[in-house]
Amino acid sequence: MLTDVAELLRCPQCPPAEENGLVLDGRTLRCPRGHSFDVAKQGYVNLLAGGVPRHADTPAMVAARERFLGTRAYGPIRDAVRFAARRPDDSSGPLTLVEAGAGTGYYLTGCLADDDRGIALDISPAAARRASRAHPRIGAVVADTWAGLPVRSGVVDVLLAVFAPRNPAEFARVLAPQGRVLVVTPLPQHLAGLRSALHLLDIEHDKGSHLLERMAGHLDLVAGTDIRFTARLSPASVADLVGMGPNAFHVTSRDGGPTTSAGPRDGGPTTSDDPTARPHSATPSATDRLDDEVAVEVAVEVAVRLWEFVRA
Ligand SMILES: C[S@@+](CC[C@H](N)C(=O)[O-])C[C@H]1O[C@@H](n2cnc3c(N)ncnc32)[C@H](O)[C@@H]1O
Ligand SMILES: [Zn+2]
Repeated sequence: MLTDVAELLRCPQCPPAEENGLVLDGRTLRCPRGHSFDVAKQGYVNLLAGGVPRHADTPAMVAARERFLGTRAYGPIRDAVRFAARRPDDSSGPLTLVEAGAGTGYYLTGCLADDDRGIALDISPAAARRASRAHPRIGAVVADTWAGLPVRSGVVDVLLAVFAPRNPAEFARVLAPQGRVLVVTPLPQHLAGLRSALHLLDIEHDKGSHLLERMAGHLDLVAGTDIRFTARLSPASVADLVGMGPNAFHVTSRDGGPTTSAGPRDGGPTTSDDPTARPHSATPSATDRLDDEVAVEVAVEVAVRLWEFVRA
């Protein structure tokens, strides 16, 4: 709930250097300068300066993600993230965790233990709505990772970015001195068979060096672990896997070809960081082909890398 995390939030409208916190006053978050943000009846707060960008995940995409993750097809990824977030030698007491681009809050929820608290940040109100229900000690906030995190400096023990945009300077700023950033990105082999069967998805190569370049000066790599396994998916799960990614938007309007992705930004919603992000061709749509090509359960190769960073 927001009450658990309000004190960790920073007013997005005040000058960043002031580090003005937010206090929950009834159903409104307020800063000392008088900016106020109403808590939605579903329990999340929207701290975006403008309207919701068009590329925010839609309610249908969030529902597909929830169904897909509910099958536990990506359970081994969540287990690995949890293990990295909560090392057995970690005796430091309750942790503060933040997931940037949290979606339904699946990975954040998996990491919370004991009295930990978590903040789920996502640009999509539909995702924040869902994440706010994911765990009693999660507060969900609509925010744009690229615009800066509405989180006070130096308060985060573990920051997650799983298939989601990254803002290295901001990630480093919010980290506590011993804090860590855990990033999950797809390897080139990720969902390869499925991508070629459906002729729609591609993964940018050289992703690793790109990530490290972007992190340089802000975050230092301390560990990298590849996670590879085979998942067996029903046709419905394949449809959800496609439907939860940007292919669920109309392909023709989003397909800018291999080099458009997110420009100078990192891990953006149209980059290959999300393996369902970049169609090879505009027509026909992926979902149109599903009925023909995925009649029975299919084995898909899951191949991702879990990166662990500390402040540089
Ligand atoms: C591929 S999904 C991953 C969601 C979640 N981490 C998971 O793996 O289930 C990417 C998420 O990032 C969110 N997102 C996209 N651009 C964003 C931005 N600029 N700031 C914050 N969230 C963003 C999307 O709404 C979506 O929920
Ligand atoms: Zn303010």
